[in-house]
Amino acid sequence: MEVVSAPAEMQRLAESARRQGARISLVPTMGFLHEGHLALMREARRRATMLVVSIFVNPTQFGPAEDLARYPRDLDGDLAKLRRIPADLVFAPDSSALYPPGAQTWVEVSELTRGLCGAHRPGHFRGVTTIVAKLFNLVRPHLAIFGEKDFQQLRAIQRMVRDLDFDIEVVPFPIVREADGLAMSSRNAYLSAAERRDAQALSRALFAARDRYAAGLRDPQALCAIAAEVIATHPGVQLEYLEAVDAETLDAAPGAGRPILLALAARVGATRLIDNVVLGDR
Ligand code: PAJ
Repeated sequence: MEVVSAPAEMQRLAESARRQGARISLVPTMGFLHEGHLALMREARRRATMLVVSIFVNPTQFGPAEDLARYPRDLDGDLAKLRRIPADLVFAPDSSALYPPGAQTWVEVSELTRGLCGAHRPGHFRGVTTIVAKLFNLVRPHLAIFGEKDFQQLRAIQRMVRDLDFDIEVVPFPIVREADGLAMSSRNAYLSAAERRDAQALSRALFAARDRYAAGLRDPQALCAIAAEVIATHPGVQLEYLEAVDAETLDAAPGAGRPILLALAARVGATRLIDNVVLGDR
C-alpha cells in the first residue's frame, strides 16, 4: 500500500495506472476511520481494480466556530485499517499543498445546498464541492463512493459531476449504523457515555417515522411530528433542524408519491450529529 502526500505525485501515479488499464475507485474521507468508511472501501474494491483512499481534514468546509482544530485525527491507526482492506494507495496531502497561497477558486452547487445543513453551515458545501473537485482532478477516478449518511453532500456531488462533466460514476452507499442504531461518525468519538445514550434518540426518532410511513402515513409534516416527539423525550438533544424534503431535489415540498428524505441535525452536548432515512421506493 503506497502512501502519497504530494498532489503532483498523486496525479502522476493515477495517470500511469490509467495508462496500464486500471479502473480506479476513490473513497474520499477526513480520516479517523470507522466501519462506515471501511464498508464504502470494500464496495469500491468490488467495483474497481485500484482503490485510492484520500485522508484530508479539509479546512474550507469548516466554519470559523466549528471543530477543525479538534477534529479527531489518527493517521497511523487509519493506515493500519487501510492495510487490512487493503487500499492500493492512500493520498494524505498537507493542507498547504492543496490550498496554495492565493487560492481563490470555488466550486459551488447553488440550490441543492441552500436548505438543511446548508442553512446552518454557511460555506460548508462550497468547501466540500471544491475539495472533491480537486480530488477528482488529482486521483482521476473512474468511480467514487459517497455515504448516504451525508445525504445533502451526496446530492451536491452528483449535481456537480453532471454540471461540470466529470467523467466519474458517483456510487451512493447506505448508512452504516452501530448496533443500537446510531449512525457511525468520526464525531461520535466526542460523546460522553451519557451523551452516547442520548444520541440514540436520533435514529429512534427517524425509525419511528419510518414505521408510520410503512403503516401508510404519507403527510411529510405528520412524519416530522412523529420524529420530533421522540426527540422531545430526550432533553439532552437539541434539534437544529428536522425536515421532510424531496429525496431527489431536496425541495421543501416532496411531490406526491415521490421518495421523502427525512433528515435531521442535532446537538448532543457540544457535538453536532446528523442522520436521515429515505422513505419510499427509489
Ligand atoms: P467523512 O465524514 O470522513 O466521510 C467520508 C465518507 O464516508 C463520506 O462519503 C461519508 O458520507 C461516508 N460515511 C461516513 N459515515 C458513514 C456511515 N455511518 N455510513 C455510510 N457512509 C458514511 O464526508 C466527508 O468526510 C468529507 O465531507 C469529504 C467528502 C471527504 C470531503 O472533505
